Order: sequence, then structure tokens, then C-alpha cells
Amino acid sequence: MGLNTEKIQRCIETLEPMFSLHIFDEVTSTNDVLKEYLSKDKSQNVIIISELQTEGRGRFNRTWLSPSGGLYFSFGFPSSLSVEKLPCLGLVASNAIIYSLNALSIPVKAKWPNDILLYEKKIGGILSEMIVDKQTFIIIGIGLNLNFSMANLPTSLSDSATTIIEELGQVIEIEEVLCRFLSAFTSRLKELHKTQSLSPILEEWRKYSSTLGRDVLVDDGGSQITGTAIDINEFGSLIVNLPTNHQMIFQTGDVKHLKHLSN
Ligand code: BTN
Repeated sequence: MGLNTEKIQRCIETLEPMFSLHIFDEVTSTNDVLKEYLSKDKSQNVIIISELQTEGRGRFNRTWLSPSGGLYFSFGFPSSLSVEKLPCLGLVASNAIIYSLNALSIPVKAKWPNDILLYEKKIGGILSEMIVDKQTFIIIGIGLNLNFSMANLPTSLSDSATTIIEELGQVIEIEEVLCRFLSAFTSRLKELHKTQSLSPILEEWRKYSSTLGRDVLVDDGGSQITGTAIDINEFGSLIVNLPTNHQMIFQTGDVKHLKHLSN
């Protein structure tokens, strides 16, 4: 198998900004390999892609199982965004993934803050990190379950996770997804840097959202709150209507979609 380096290189050359590309058969975690590159040289925007990961990481230090057939990559770039706006980048990235997959007729949706769902099960996630040095450097790591069956993952995940081939029986060209994503992401990133807010993509995010209008349980690290997700604001925070009719605004957290407020 192997990834088509030439195809990926050709599409990266069309991007503004440019990235230097590094493709591997196997790594521990593309986020960690990217950090090693950045520790030596922060003068370039870098993309690390691997066919599989042995120690893939998710949010809240969860394991991200990464068998061959998925798309696993991380990219890093300098940013003028302030630290409190970091969550916006995850939403821009999830928006660009969903836009790209929908263009390939894969009807994925967004679960706040940045999970990618297919038929309400997770097929992708985003891990954003930030290095604050003389300049702020952003790292975005993305994992997508594309061309491997659920037999490659523990059965304990079968209620909550899935893969594209499992649901649609369709092999997706990994390079095509990556190139479409990078083009969609870089154009949205320019807008984000210009406006310093999510305003340019808010309407699109709402359209692709599976969370808005749903009863949700939000775990913000300290407490668990149930309510109805009614909107996101221009900084990517989730606005939840509580049963008391008060509103709460969450900048980060983990969301569970509920069928009813009581479960
Ligand atoms: C999540 O939903 O919890 C985020 C998952 C992010 C996984 C990707 S795979 C590529 C990159 N390398 C990692 O170790 N994690 C991210």
C-alpha cells in the first residue's frame, strides 16, 4: 500500500502558507514527532503523516487507536491568535474536515467541540496543542477512521465509534481527503487570523452540527451539567440552556448527546 507522497507533495505546493512534508510508515504519535521537529527548527510550517501510530493520543490523554487504513497527521504553524482563542482552531479544523468529507458524499457531522460523527458514531477527532515560545506555535493532530473495519478496534468501542468503510462499504482515497482538508483549512485559517473570531464559519458550523438543538451532558472537567445545546458563539464556546432556564457557556469540555435530559 503506502501513501502517494508525490500526490500529497503536489497538493501541498498549492497551499498558502507552504508546509514541509514528512511521511512515515509508523510513528508513536504524529503530534509527538512534530514536536521533535519543532524543538530543532520552528522556522517552517511542518506536516507529519503516518500510515499508523503505535501510541496515538486523544483529548484528555485518551488512547487513539490508529491501525493502518486511517488518516493520521499533525501539522504545525505559527499563529497570532491569543491563547484563549485556541479552541477556535479545533472548530475550524473540524469544519474543514466535514466540508471536505461532505464534498465526497460522506454525510459526517460535528459534535462539539471537535469530534467527527458518522450516523452519530465517532469516526474522527482533533487534538490541538500550543507551544508558547517567542512566538505562539499551533499543533493540530487529526485522526480519521477511513479504510479499516471495526474488527481492528476493541468491541467495547462498537457502540460509540465506527469507520467509513464499515458504514458505507466504500474505500476513500486517503490522499484526496488530506488534500481537500488542507485546502479548506488554510483558507478558513486566513479568515480566522483576519477577524480573530469564528464569525466567518459560524453559519457553516451550525449547518454541520449534530450537537445544536440536542439535550447534552457536558463534563467541563469539574462538574457534569445537563441541558439543551442552543448555539456556539464567535469564540467557539458552547451555549447551553439549563432546565432552570439559565444559560451556561462552556469554553472546553466533553459532550455526550442525550436522548432525553434524564438519561
Ligand atoms: C480526540 O478525539 O480525542 C482527538 C484524537 C486525535 C487523534 C490524532 S491522530 C493524529 C494525531 N496524533 C495523535 O497522537 N493524536 C492525533
